[in-house]
Amino acid sequence: MSTKFALLAGSALVASGLAAQADELNLVCSADNAVCEALVAKFESKGDIDVNMIRLSSGEAYAKIRAEARNPQMDLWWGGTGDPHLQAAADELTAEYKSDMLAELQPWAVSQAETSGYRTVGVYSGALGWGYNAEIFAAKGIEGPKCWADLLNPALADEIQVADPNSSGTAYTVLATLVQLMGEEEAFEYLIKLGDNVSQYTKSGSAPVKSAARGEAGLGIVFMHDAVKQAESGFPIEVVAPCEGTGYEIGSMSIIADGPNPEAAKVFYDWVLTPEAQNIMPGAGAFQIPSNKSSILPEAAPKLGDINLIDYDFAQYGSSERRSGLLARWDREVGALK
Ligand code: F6P
Repeated sequence: MSTKFALLAGSALVASGLAAQADELNLVCSADNAVCEALVAKFESKGDIDVNMIRLSSGEAYAKIRAEARNPQMDLWWGGTGDPHLQAAADELTAEYKSDMLAELQPWAVSQAETSGYRTVGVYSGALGWGYNAEIFAAKGIEGPKCWADLLNPALADEIQVADPNSSGTAYTVLATLVQLMGEEEAFEYLIKLGDNVSQYTKSGSAPVKSAARGEAGLGIVFMHDAVKQAESGFPIEVVAPCEGTGYEIGSMSIIADGPNPEAAKVFYDWVLTPEAQNIMPGAGAFQIPSNKSSILPEAAPKLGDINLIDYDFAQYGSSERRSGLLARWDREVGALK
């Protein structure tokens, strides 16, 4: 292990002599692949730990970790929406860890740790909204939708994409947000009607706005930062925060309970919470709000203070019972119609 990592790992780790064993890490990454790869490349360049990384959407990552509970294969789960991380914590699929880095984090990131009994922590945040293709809307002569209600316009038939909430944390955040905004019955009525305008429920949360950028769909319901990425890349995407109010994520990170390389997991965990690591994200097209108070807030990142945010109940919507119940109802009443 390099001197740099010995320093990062903290004196307890070095004193225990465990640092020398920490040479491999099995990482599940649930953010955009480009940022996952950029973080891994930087981390590997700094020390002796080789990272085996797979990218899975948040719900898929949760399902994999759950399926492997008796024989855990992964060490660390970085990124993805907080709700499935909280569910994994409640199921004790993830391990308690109080990093020294907690002192450097924003209150919302620490509160995520407290809610989970220190089995997860906030790594970034971002609000839900959508991105629409301004050229397609202009050609159709439709005004850009500003409110959730506008998405039910019959002129948008087959123009909308959103992910499947079973695989995607983004889409689960949509579901939980609408339930909190409208009440459960009204939210499901809304989602059934919205289904008439949805051409496809994708697996990954950011795929819908990538399709809108390429003109394959008119609009993608996504986290606003994923729409910003397409706009920043030069596509004709307009980014919207819904007028009635919207939800947000606390993107999270958890150490897998009884994973094969627990010490390597802690080294990555501590490093990835530093400004050095978080400042890599905008360069890889990731415009979330970073959790370290000293990290640079990307200029293009949608600012939570400017958005009409609901008081998202992370504890309730990240609980096993609530999340499983809402997903089962979505399958029966919404997914089954496609
Ligand atoms: O693309 C980045 C991102 O939107 C993250 O902010 C979020 O945590 C993650 O993707 C969710 O991805 P998915 O919806 O595929 O689980």
